[in-house]
Amino acid sequence: MIDVTIQYQQEQRIFALQTKNSSYMFGINDKGRLQHLYWGLPIGVEDCASLLRLSSHSSFDAELDREAEEYSFWGGTCYTEPSLKAIMPDGVRDLSVQYAGHEITEQDGRETLVITLKDKAYPVETKLYYRVIPEYDLVERSAKISNTGDQEIMLESMQSAAWSIPYLQDYRLTHVTGKWSGEFQLRDTLLTEGKKVLESRRGFTDGHANPWFAIDDGQATESEGRVWFGALAWSGNWKLVAEKTAFSHVKITGGINDFDNSWLLGAGDTFETPVFVGGFSDGGFGRMSRHMHHYQYDYVLPNNETRKVLYNSWEATYFNVNAQDQMALAERAARAGVELFVVDDGWFGGRNHDRAGLGDWYVNKEKFPNGLGELIDRVHELGMEFGIWVEPESVNPDSELYRQHPDWVYHFPTRDRTELRNQLLLNISKPEVKQFILAFMTDLLHNHKIKFIKWDMNRTITEPGMKDHSLNRQKEVWVRHVQALYEIWSELRSRFPHVEFETCAGGGSRIDLGIFRFAEQSWPSDNTDAFDRLSIQEGYSYIYAPRTMTCWVTDSPTGMNRRSLSLKYRFHSAMMGTLGIGSNLNEWSDESIGQCAEFVKQYKQIRPLVQFGNQYRLSELKHKGVTAVQYADAAGSEHVLFAFLHSQRLGEPLPRLRLKGLVAGKCYSIDGLPGTWSGRALMNVGIELPLRGDFDSLMYRIREINEKKAGSL
Ligand code: GLA
Repeated sequence: MIDVTIQYQQEQRIFALQTKNSSYMFGINDKGRLQHLYWGLPIGVEDCASLLRLSSHSSFDAELDREAEEYSFWGGTCYTEPSLKAIMPDGVRDLSVQYAGHEITEQDGRETLVITLKDKAYPVETKLYYRVIPEYDLVERSAKISNTGDQEIMLESMQSAAWSIPYLQDYRLTHVTGKWSGEFQLRDTLLTEGKKVLESRRGFTDGHANPWFAIDDGQATESEGRVWFGALAWSGNWKLVAEKTAFSHVKITGGINDFDNSWLLGAGDTFETPVFVGGFSDGGFGRMSRHMHHYQYDYVLPNNETRKVLYNSWEATYFNVNAQDQMALAERAARAGVELFVVDDGWFGGRNHDRAGLGDWYVNKEKFPNGLGELIDRVHELGMEFGIWVEPESVNPDSELYRQHPDWVYHFPTRDRTELRNQLLLNISKPEVKQFILAFMTDLLHNHKIKFIKWDMNRTITEPGMKDHSLNRQKEVWVRHVQALYEIWSELRSRFPHVEFETCAGGGSRIDLGIFRFAEQSWPSDNTDAFDRLSIQEGYSYIYAPRTMTCWVTDSPTGMNRRSLSLKYRFHSAMMGTLGIGSNLNEWSDESIGQCAEFVKQYKQIRPLVQFGNQYRLSELKHKGVTAVQYADAAGSEHVLFAFLHSQRLGEPLPRLRLKGLVAGKCYSIDGLPGTWSGRALMNVGIELPLRGDFDSLMYRIREINEKKAGSL
């Protein structure tokens, strides 16, 4: 029985990190380096002790054991991706680091291993942190690099962790790619010798990729097979390097992107890397996702409260916001069962289009002659909470703010300032800019009864010059932006603990485990086409939790591609996360609002399953154009199934769909269908899907009943 979470076996010099269903082992080798030994199904220290030894192949591969370093210090024969690269005050660019001690402590009620490594000659100290989340088979890793001397040291790469994967016949890397309005698209590729790099250089997390990886042997499925995975908690430039050596060692090194990056570590200073969480699943990709979802619920998100059904005005009124229309929308939203009414862009300054006003954070008097209070009061009278959109990091050149402070934006004095969506980006790490943002946000939240902030960021960083910093600190810009953002959010959250946040960046460009420490939910994409959303939501769900995923029902045909979809299909697609409505309800008939209210009511009934339960992606009929997702409670007694058909061909009936997560011996009923079924039958024989034609959908509620005998299918 293996039950100790973190253990150091003195005799063998091995650290053993045990979770419920996995072991993670590394040791201190004869050269004093931390050498990775094992990651996978549970074993004991004695089972892998023989792996702790030095090895070499030739003078060209003199220290092969270095390929498996837990954290590689660039120096000597380190030729794989380094975890730390530094320049000493005398110009020496070589780290020679050894184990110097460790302690096993408790942090936030969790056992934490802290290992100290020191350079042989220079005052560089690295502390590696390992925190174990046993119930989800996860290990959180990070590093702190300290300058214990009295002269400056330049850091050129400071990664969070390197994850070694055990030998597999093939290494399949799964990740996501994307673009504006097409985020979170799943991809996979077999690794050959060399490196596959996933990264962001755009200043934020980025919709073109997302900082996580999953590796399997090419055979894992949703419910079977072994998967090693990891996700980085960082909302700025990041890099994951999946590297396979000629000796078939595979490791994934990840952290803050070292491109155009350096950090001047002053005497006595410490640099702390973001957390990189890694995990092992022997229940395929499905278990990987479920463990990551519950990890976010239990350890990452600011709270565990039910997410409300929201209304958002963006697609209804765009910049054409005014008190009267918003109140009319609010009245209809309340009738539809909405709980949180959010006014999007266009309520402030001279913001009548995206060319002006950004930065002028006062209420537009023409649009709201009696201030925002009038609308907020009305929203409250209607029984809803109030939320509002802001984009504090950006400024339109056509704004009072920019006219007063043209120096507040990132720029190089000799270069044009690239405008993206007609806007520039503020250097928020500048104390006066940070103060400005904190002050206007504090006024806004102090003077109005606001429950929810949608925080947007609609451009990438260009011309990353920081006017007030010395030349040797210029490349710190990428890290400083993110640190300042986290400081601002953390300060706002402590000043206004009742206010909830949504992270948005032109859709899903800032979604990661770092921002989720401050934001309850996210806006995954500006694409609200309910069919396109299915693949966006699938990719999202690989790592991120359904409760964090805001999904709106919008008008049909959608502005994105003119596709027409039924109200039912649009609702079913959006009910798989945190439901929202983004339609122009002012143009809806009373009958349509009544139908809308019916779906919202259904959502509220199944919401605990979607927002707190276990998600199962049922991918068996994917090749038939079927997307199916099931959500279950912890006991396996209550379930909801969503199924979507793209298009029926040649009159073919669909094969049965097998469900998951039920209890074989229990008896279930399906709402709307006569008869009862055993869990065994539902999971092994499956159910018929009466989906027909194009873009059909269904939602089934499946509930345990107390009958002894289950009937036929
Ligand atoms: C971004 C967001 C949208 C909306 C607009 C407002 O594109 O993703 O949801 O808020 O900005 O300008």
